[in-house]
Amino acid sequence: MKVDLNSRYGLNPAHSEVVAASKLIAPCDVLDMGCSTGRNAVYLGQLGFNVTAIDNNPNAIDMLANIAQQEQMPNIKAQLYDINSAKLAKDYDFISCTVTLMFIEPTRLDAIIADMQNNTRSGGYNLIVCAMDTERHPCPVPFPLTLSAGQLSQAYQGWQLIKYNEDVGTMHNGAKLQFATMLAKKLS
Ligand SMILES: C[S@@+](CC[C@H](N)C(=O)[O-])C[C@H]1O[C@@H](n2cnc3c(N)ncnc32)[C@H](O)[C@@H]1O
Repeated sequence: MKVDLNSRYGLNPAHSEVVAASKLIAPCDVLDMGCSTGRNAVYLGQLGFNVTAIDNNPNAIDMLANIAQQEQMPNIKAQLYDINSAKLAKDYDFISCTVTLMFIEPTRLDAIIADMQNNTRSGGYNLIVCAMDTERHPCPVPFPLTLSAGQLSQAYQGWQLIKYNEDVGTMHNGAKLQFATMLAKKLS
């Protein structure tokens, strides 16, 4: 049985939506946007994905790069990158961006999503999980950016929405937090 590297390095388990997507998407070139210390990158790397993991936190990138080196996993590349620049350098089969967009500069959202879409190969996937702020469920956390109802599905018109919901979850302190969760497939 494979060692669980997330446990070995004190990383939380991979995001549940990344785990679900990895059951549908075969190992391929994946970009993990806002990877932090790599809970999703390490999980996908162990499954055989060719992972590029990007974050603007140099300490997080160093930690993930050390894990990849220590475990001799050349299929995980950790790189410093500012998502706000919206200048991805290559194309991917799968771009994953879980609980990260709410920390970006709000005026850059359209450019960032367009860049993700342009840098996804035909037949490839985008996974996004992002906090929302709606009349019914005002966001209880002062994130720089929150999505409105339908905003994410609107941005992915022309893509096949494999999964889409705007469900409300409960935080540990009892506060309600609404998330847009989307796995979309690029058709052409
Ligand atoms: C809540 S963590 C999410 C980590 C990971 N995606 C996950 O599912 O656990 C958000 C991450 O986004 C990164 N981040 C925030 N703004 C960023 C930016 N402008 N460019 C790159 N990374 C950014 C933070 O450094 C942090 O590691």
